[in-house]
Amino acid sequence: MSDDETPIFAAARQANEVLHGAAPALPRPESPRIITIANQKGGVGKTTSTVNLAAALALGGLGVLVIDMDPQGNASTALGVDHREGTPSSYELLMWESPLEDLMQKSPHADRLFCVPATIDLAGSEIELVGLPQRERRLAEVLIPEDLQSLGIDYVFLDCPPSLGLLTVNAMVAAREVLIPIQCEYYALEGVGQLLRNVELIQQHLNTDLEISTVMLTMYDGRTKLAEQVAGEVRKHFGETVLRTVIPRSVKVSEAPGFGMTILQYDAGSRGALAYLDAAREINARRKAVEADSLASTAPAGEAKGNGPEENR
Ligand SMILES: Nc1ncnc2c1ncn2[C@@H]1O[C@H](COP(=O)(O)OP(=O)(O)O)[C@@H](O)[C@H]1O
Ligand SMILES: [Mg+2]
Repeated sequence: MSDDETPIFAAARQANEVLHGAAPALPRPESPRIITIANQKGGVGKTTSTVNLAAALALGGLGVLVIDMDPQGNASTALGVDHREGTPSSYELLMWESPLEDLMQKSPHADRLFCVPATIDLAGSEIELVGLPQRERRLAEVLIPEDLQSLGIDYVFLDCPPSLGLLTVNAMVAAREVLIPIQCEYYALEGVGQLLRNVELIQQHLNTDLEISTVMLTMYDGRTKLAEQVAGEVRKHFGETVLRTVIPRSVKVSEAPGFGMTILQYDAGSRGALAYLDAAREINARRKAVEADSLASTAPAGEAKGNGPEENR
C-alpha cells in the first residue's frame, strides 16, 4: 500500500475486523512452527517484528508463544507481561528449572498469545551455559513439538539478542526456521554473510533441519532511493525467501512498545499494523512450502549451489 488515500480506509476496516474477531480465521499450520528471529546486528527490527507478527497471528486465531531470549526483555515489554527481576522466565527454561507451561504468561493483547519473558537473570546465562551439559541444546530439549501441540501452540517465535552467542545458538538449534529481518538502510547486508555462515555451521553440526525460511525487509522508507536499492539488492541475493510484504518505517511502530503494546493494539489502522498483518498472513500461507524439503531455497537466487553466499557490503 503506497498512498494514504481510500485503500487505507479499506485496510483500517480490515484491521478492525481482525482486532474484533470478525475477520476469517487464519488456517492452522499442520504442526507447530518454531521460528528464530536472528540478526546479530542490533536495531534491525528483530524484537519489533517478533511481537507484531506474533500479535497478528494470534489475532487471526492461532496459538502463539514468544520466548524472549534477549536479556533486555523488550519483547516481554511490548507483549505486556511481567518481567521484573525474579519473575520465572526464559532463564529457568534454559536451566531446566521449570517446565515450559509454568513459565508461559498470557499476554493481555490476544486470547491465545503467550510469552516466556526475559529478565535480567538471562544476562549472565551466556557464561553459565558454557559449563552445562548440552549447552547448545538446552532450549531444544524443552521445546518439544508434541508438548506445544497439546498446549495449543501453532507458532513459537524466539527473539534473539544482537549477538551470535550461546543464546542465539540455542534458539537456532531449537528452531526449524530462521527469519532474518533486514533494515533498509546503509550497511544493511553488513554481517549477514557471517550470520549465514553461522546458520550453515549449525545446519552441519547441530540442527540439520534448520533453514532460512524468511527474510523480511523492515524500516522501509519509500521516499528514499536508498531503501529501494537495498530492497532490490536483498531480493537479488535471497530470491523467493524474501517476503513480498515490506515493513514501512513508521513512528507509530516505534512508539507502541513505550505503551506496552504492539502496533496492533496501539494503532490497528496504521500502515505499520497493516504491513505486519499482511506479513503474518504471508508467512502463514507459506507453511506448505516450508514443510517441503527446501535446502535450495536457502541459497540466494542466482548463486551456484554449494558456494556459500558472499557477504555484500
Ligand atoms: N518499522 C519501524 N519503523 C520505525 N521504527 C522502527 C520500526 N521497526 C523498529 N523500529 C524501532 O527501531 C528500534 C530497533 O528495533 P528493534 O525491534 O528493537 O530491533 P532489534 O530487536 O533488532 O534490536 C526500536 O526503537 C524500534 O522501535
Ligand atoms: Mg531486540
